[in-house]
Amino acid sequence: MKKNFYITTPIYYVNDIPHLGHAYTTIAADVLARYKRLRGYNVFFLTGTDEHGDKIARTAEKKGISPHELTDKVVIRFKNLWKELYISNDDFIRTTEFRHIEAVKEVFLKLYKQDDIYKGKYKGWYCISCESFWLESQLKEGNLCPECGRKVEKVEEESYFFRLSKYQKKLLEHFEKNPNFVLPPTRRNEAIKFIKSGLKDLSVTRLKLNWGIPCPIQKEHTIYVWVDALLNYISAIGYPFGKEKFSFFWPADVQIVGKDILKFHAIIWPSILMALGLKLPKIVFAHGWWKVNNEKMSKSKGNVIDPKEITEKYGVDPLRYFLLRELPFGGDGSFSTFLFIKRVNSDLANNLGNLLNRTLPLVIKYCDSKVPYPDKENNDEIGIKKRAEEIISQLDEMMNTLSFSKALSLIWEIAKLTNLYINKSAPWSLAKDKSKEGEYRTVLYNVLDSLRIITILVFPFIPQSAKKMWNQLGIEEELEKQILDEESIKKGIIPGTKIKKGPPLFPRIEE
Ligand code: MSP
Repeated sequence: MKKNFYITTPIYYVNDIPHLGHAYTTIAADVLARYKRLRGYNVFFLTGTDEHGDKIARTAEKKGISPHELTDKVVIRFKNLWKELYISNDDFIRTTEFRHIEAVKEVFLKLYKQDDIYKGKYKGWYCISCESFWLESQLKEGNLCPECGRKVEKVEEESYFFRLSKYQKKLLEHFEKNPNFVLPPTRRNEAIKFIKSGLKDLSVTRLKLNWGIPCPIQKEHTIYVWVDALLNYISAIGYPFGKEKFSFFWPADVQIVGKDILKFHAIIWPSILMALGLKLPKIVFAHGWWKVNNEKMSKSKGNVIDPKEITEKYGVDPLRYFLLRELPFGGDGSFSTFLFIKRVNSDLANNLGNLLNRTLPLVIKYCDSKVPYPDKENNDEIGIKKRAEEIISQLDEMMNTLSFSKALSLIWEIAKLTNLYINKSAPWSLAKDKSKEGEYRTVLYNVLDSLRIITILVFPFIPQSAKKMWNQLGIEEELEKQILDEESIKKGIIPGTKIKKGPPLFPRIEE
């Protein structure tokens, strides 16, 4: 039976159109989802949009439209962008959908009935931009939000509270027993430190806010948007109504978030799950930020990068590759076109692209456009296959810890090795000497098979280019149906296969 794998992205606010930061999280999740499918898993990959709350309501008001109109408009931008970036999500949840709203109400009622939610009075501050509550002592000078630096608003009202403090001890124990629960370790330590500083009960309803899910106990209250939003991860798979999909996929294997929303995912979310008696996700990974000139991208600073501007100019796969290769997942980095072009030219054009582009003409010229039969004594003298096997076993470890950059540099080692092998064995010279026919056939066979292996390995990262490479290699089986295991690597490309050379896949970009 196939093993299941459930992966999620945060659900994005629809007060603004998607930018490079959103694309980064979603591409990373897509790569992992595709990798797991390649490994034979039954994958469920979820993304979606966070559509309630003050932030959305106020943006709609400013635009002179209803929140409904705003969300319906912006959600299309997200869905279209994901299509353009080859995102292979299995579902897309909007928090304004019936299936979600009903689930949230049900969860709220359950927690209230079991006394994990109680009625009280909230006195403090609220940041609309982060949709976060703050104590006076936490604010920056001038009543500014400690997270985003914007002005916060004073709130004093009746509210329902979730007993977050009750889960402090249990949560710490979970962190201790599960060293990989929150990754990377810097974020894990940050979360532990925060829990140890003492958890306070969380206000989970707001008064005077119409754009949200009404509280099922008292309809003048609206459920706090973060509680609403976090529950998407389980409402999308049927909790608490349809048990089958939920029991298949919960607990999630990997939940990818940005470091800006660590607290919600490493503290509030697991506490709610504990209160519901549910298992916690296996890994919550908080990645870093793409900055521009060392500042976080944000609409108000006017420094957001539109991923479409890059993909229209340079293509989708170069962007997918760059984002995951350039920056270790977890760290921060500055986006620059200069670095982008440099990376794409060196890795995609000069290395991988060149390997394919120099090999196929030799097959056309000397082997009648067919994959040649290797000599019987072919013992893969450069050991590409052996190295590929080693790399594939290491790759799993890299991918399971979301070390995408290291994984890519390992895969590229095979391409480099193969390029060196061609240089050294010079099949173009061998082909001129009749007595060396067996040798050049063997060399070209090994190179083509190495290209086959590389294509399978890069498929999760650069899916469209990998498909084109696969077509040029002439392999008939579908790339999507390949399973990455020892057997498929050993199998080898079939001699006699007719190659189909096409235009260069990664043309060099003018610097
Ligand atoms: N709606 C909440 C999440 C709710 S999840 C239950 C939210 N949405 S958001 O639209 O602000 O998107 C947040 C996510 O986008 C971040 O956590 C991060 O994953 C990604 N990024 C936004 N800006 C980013 C960068 N500049 N760099 C990298 N990723 C960034 O928060």
